[in-house]
Amino acid sequence: MRTKIAIIGAGPAGLMLAHLLQREGIDAVILESRDRDYIEGRVRAGVLEQTTVNLLERLGLGGRMGREGLIHTGTKLAIDGEIFRIDIQELTGGSTVMVYGQQEVMRDLFDDAAERGIKIIFNAAEVRPREVAGSRPYVTWRENGTERRLDCDFIAGCDGFHGVSRGCIPKTVLKTFERVYPFGWLGILADVPPANHELIYANHERGFALASMRSATRSRYYIQCAVDENLADWPDERFWDEVARRLGPETAAHVVRGPSFEKSIAPLRSSVTEPMRHGKLFLAGDAAHIVPPTGAKGLNLAVADVIFLAEALTDFYQSGSASGIDHYSARALARVWKAERFSWWFTSITHRFPEMDGFARKMQVAELNYMRGSRAAQTMLAENYVGLPLQ
Ligand code: APR
Ligand code: PHB
Repeated sequence: MRTKIAIIGAGPAGLMLAHLLQREGIDAVILESRDRDYIEGRVRAGVLEQTTVNLLERLGLGGRMGREGLIHTGTKLAIDGEIFRIDIQELTGGSTVMVYGQQEVMRDLFDDAAERGIKIIFNAAEVRPREVAGSRPYVTWRENGTERRLDCDFIAGCDGFHGVSRGCIPKTVLKTFERVYPFGWLGILADVPPANHELIYANHERGFALASMRSATRSRYYIQCAVDENLADWPDERFWDEVARRLGPETAAHVVRGPSFEKSIAPLRSSVTEPMRHGKLFLAGDAAHIVPPTGAKGLNLAVADVIFLAEALTDFYQSGSASGIDHYSARALARVWKAERFSWWFTSITHRFPEMDGFARKMQVAELNYMRGSRAAQTMLAENYVGLPLQ
C-alpha cells in the first residue's frame, strides 16, 4: 500500500487532520489500534474554542453542533462559594465558546469520514513508524495476524500520550518538560439539569470543584481528589455532598442530584516534548503535549496543531515549498507553550496544593479577588479561554 500521509491514531488530532487533507485532495490513511466505539466512548472535556468551532464549520461539520451545542458568552469563578462572572464575549470583542462534548465531535467526524471515503484501518496492532529519518518512511502493523506495510511521504504521529510515535525521535534530540500535579479530578456525568447555565470553576478550602454540562439535561461535575483515590469510596451521595460544599450554598441550592452513569478519576499533568518534527515524522496533539484539564485546552490544542500541519503539507504539495513543514514545530510549539501556561496558571489559582500554607492560600484568594475587580486581569483569562490566534 502507498499513500502520501500515514496518520497514526484516529483521535481528534488524527481524524481532524485526515479531514483537512481530504479537502485539499491529499491522500492519507489512518492506522488506529482501537475501534470506533472505543474512541467515541471515551469521556473527555466539552468546551470548544472559537477556532475549533470555526474549523468544524469550515469543514461542513458544524451542523449538529450548531443545533445541539450550547454557545457560552461567559464563565464563572467562585471563591469559597462567592461567584463572579467573566463576560468573555464582551472582553474579547465578540468571541464565545461552544459547549459540545468531545464524544459528539468524534461522532460527527467519524460519520462524515465514512461518507467521504476517508481511509481508516481500525484494530491495527503493533503499529510502528519506520525509517522516519530517511527519505522513504513507511509504517508497519499487524492485521488479523498478518504483517502489513504502508509506504508514504510523511508520517503524522497523532497517537496520543501513550502512542509509539514520540519514541521514534532519538533521545539525543528529544526534550521533555513536565509537571505532574499531586492530585487528580474525580468526574461524574448525570442526566440532571446543570446547576447554572454557565460553567463554574470553584476554588474552595477543601479543594477545586467544577460545575460543567453537556446539554440542558446532562451535567458534568468534577472535584479535585487525591491521585490514588479509590472510586469505590465515592458513592454518588458522597460526591454530591462534596461538590455542593465546594461550589458554595448559592450554587448548591441549584444542584440537581441524580444517579451518575459515568464516574472516573483523571490524573493532572503538564508536559511538552520538543521538537514536534523529526525527519519525515510530525507529532500532533497529545502525542506531543498534555495539559491539565482546567480550561479545557486538550482537544483545542490538538486541533490547532493539525491546522498548522495541514497548511504546511498543503503548501508542500501545491507549491513544492518545504518552508511550512520546516517551520511546523516552531510554529506549533509557540502556541502550545502559551496554552500550557494558561492551563498551568488556571490550575495553580484554583486547586489546593498539599504544600500550601496559609500564606499561599491567601495569595490565591487575593489573585481571584484582583481578577474580580480588574478588567485587564479578566481579559487575560477571557482571551486565553476562547483560544489564542492561530499565528
Ligand atoms: N497505534 C495506533 N493507534 C494508536 C496507538 C498505536 N500505537 N497508540 C495510540 N493510538 C490511538 C489511540 O487509540 C487514540 O485513538 O491514537 C489515538 C490518540 O487519540 P487521543 O489520545 O485522543 O489524542 P489526540 O488525538 O491528540 O487528542 C487530544 O483529545 O482525547 C483528547 O485528552 C485528549 O484532549 C486531548 C485531545
Ligand atoms: C468538561 O465539561 O468536561 C470540562 C469543562 C471545562 C473544563 C474541563 C472539563 O475546563
